[in-house]
Amino acid sequence: MNDSQGPENPSTRAGNGLPLRTLGRTGAVVTQLGYGSMGLRGPRTWGVRVVDEPSAEAFLHSVLDAGINFIDTSPDYGLAEERIGCYLSGRRDEFLIATKCGCVYTQHADHLEIDHVWQREVIERNLQTSLRRLRTDVIDLLQFHGGDAQTLQRNGLIDLLLGFRQRGLIRWLGVSSKLPMLPDLIALDVFDTFQIPFSCLAPEHDLMLRQVADSGAGVIIRGGVAQGGPDAEIQRPALNAVWQQAGLDDLLPAGTSRAEFLLRYTLSHPACQTTIVGTCNPQHLQENIAATKAGPLPPELIRQTRRRLQQRCGLE
Ligand SMILES: NC(=O)c1ccc[n+]([C@@H]2O[C@H](COP(=O)([O-])OP(=O)(O)OC[C@H]3O[C@@H](n4cnc5c(N)ncnc54)[C@H](OP(=O)(O)O)[C@@H]3O)[C@@H](O)[C@H]2O)c1
Repeated sequence: MNDSQGPENPSTRAGNGLPLRTLGRTGAVVTQLGYGSMGLRGPRTWGVRVVDEPSAEAFLHSVLDAGINFIDTSPDYGLAEERIGCYLSGRRDEFLIATKCGCVYTQHADHLEIDHVWQREVIERNLQTSLRRLRTDVIDLLQFHGGDAQTLQRNGLIDLLLGFRQRGLIRWLGVSSKLPMLPDLIALDVFDTFQIPFSCLAPEHDLMLRQVADSGAGVIIRGGVAQGGPDAEIQRPALNAVWQQAGLDDLLPAGTSRAEFLLRYTLSHPACQTTIVGTCNPQHLQENIAATKAGPLPPELIRQTRRRLQQRCGLE
């Protein structure tokens, strides 16, 4: 895959103006801006911010009202699955749901302890729990929440997911992963999608994204707004250091916020079929929608950004 995908065909936009892409071999047409629901995990989980019930309900509806049709969640995101099921099951035909498996979690008085365990009973329990919480008969996409090719194969877990698909409990199977596990997972040639982290501040998976797209599998990018970058409410010093060191403020076009720049950089990646941006802030959601409608950054700006990241930060 090269960078010359060319301008987006206007017919690849939904009625609400959000760009659409085909999610690899699933054939599903998804909005290039998806929604990551980890922030809706609720109280006694982790982090300091807690979204209350009325805000979660309003927020989830505003995601669908904007036309976003792809939502990522997980059994170990606290209340997220239950909230999606409770508030959006009446609109189930408006979105695809991607959840995960391999998740073991224990609710303590003040926090949620989470782990990933590659055993059949865990995966089977996760699926049943997700179907119930999401109030649905079928999970569109079930992703291993990590794991390596050898373990997943040895423990019969890939066959287990293929069996779920045969029984109509899931439509597609995928994996959320990163280097160094990705090449072996791609080589299995069994996954319909790969969820992979990427942003201009953390571009290490650039080539992997292209390889996945070339293999025909679907590409789901997480971390696509670089956790909000320097303007985030929850600051990420390591990512901010990259922004500063590369001097990216110098490259910001007039009127473009840092978050918009970050998101549009990710959307410019030729393999970006959808990026599941997480936010619980209605204003940020609107900003992200506007940024997505504005589309990819100009190619010359992408080239300049990449040059700075390479020369000043050693990032490829
Ligand atoms: N291993 C895995 O499978 C895995 C790991 C991590 C995440 N995920 C999935 O990927 C999703 C996204 O991941 P992520 O949260 O790590 O990355 P992300 O989407 O890049 O970052 C989300 C953060 O960015 C902030 N943000 C979003 N839009 C913004 C804007 N316009 N301006 C300023 N800040 C903004 C959000 O805060 P506000 O709420 O304040 O907007 C939130 O804290 C998750 O929800 C989850 O579904 C999967």
